[in-house]
Amino acid sequence: MSKKPVLLITRKLSKNTEARAAQGYDVRLNSEDLLYTPDELLANCQGVDAILPCHSEVFSPDIVDKLPSTVRIIANHSVGVDHCNLEALKNRGIVVTNTPDVLSDATAEIAMLLLLGAARRASEGDQMVRTGQWSHWSPSFMVGSQVTGKRIGIVGMGRVGQVMARRARGFDMDVHYYNRHRLTPEEEQGAVYHDQLDSLLSVSDFLSLHCPATVETSGFLNTEKIKLLPNGAIVVNTARGALINEDALITALRSGKLAAAGLDVFAIEPGGNSGFSSLKNVFMLPHIGSATFETRDAMGFRALDNLDAFFAGKQPVDRVI
Ligand code: DGY
Repeated sequence: MSKKPVLLITRKLSKNTEARAAQGYDVRLNSEDLLYTPDELLANCQGVDAILPCHSEVFSPDIVDKLPSTVRIIANHSVGVDHCNLEALKNRGIVVTNTPDVLSDATAEIAMLLLLGAARRASEGDQMVRTGQWSHWSPSFMVGSQVTGKRIGIVGMGRVGQVMARRARGFDMDVHYYNRHRLTPEEEQGAVYHDQLDSLLSVSDFLSLHCPATVETSGFLNTEKIKLLPNGAIVVNTARGALINEDALITALRSGKLAAAGLDVFAIEPGGNSGFSSLKNVFMLPHIGSATFETRDAMGFRALDNLDAFFAGKQPVDRVI
């Protein structure tokens, strides 16, 4: 009988994923779900054929350089691959895969939650009731922005962006988008394409980010771009914190240029940015866009499908490099 490939799973995954992984692989689990330091990560990689990491493990050029020669594939349990230095991995001949599609519904749900929560002051209201500070009611109390019928601007109309557009249509929102390529009319479903980001920003009562963090997109939502949004716009980010210049966002939320923001992702994670904490008009979550039972299984299985294909000598369906 041939030996099973040795697989390092860097974080605690769903029970179903770990059970399936144990059938096909000689698995090294992290049952305490500790966040490895770079040295611990490297130590755990000794002698493994494959790594199944999350976005919490960073494969910088320095780390990639030190990976043992046995490592042949990194099958990410994430759609984002910004934690992987693809150039360094490519130079080492290590295959990289991700898990697209399976988290689009869950992530769009969280984007919608943030959009509604930011617009209708959910964080402020919850705090008020929870802390016993709710002492009066009047028609001028806790008034927020209505979502129904407003314009939503979607940056990045990939899988998650398209699901978000469908959810937004459920609120009769008028969907606009900016994307590298225009979608087909069937995919657009009446959404208005903007071939320039600035044009999209100028019509976005709500702006929802769904593009990957790359060298080109990093920090794109800065002071200059925020100025282009309509006064009182609301920004939602479920993609990556790196897309936003957080100082610029804080200034705009303080000045009232922006009415509110809903954020699931931050430039520094875990932890986030304490600059947002004193702002009542920010509704925040700790990067849980894909955190549903269903999606965790689906992400784990998708990563294992990629590994199975690779070790069967086939092309993994989600090969990135
Ligand atoms: C992803 O898949 O990229 C999500 O952010 C969770 O890691």
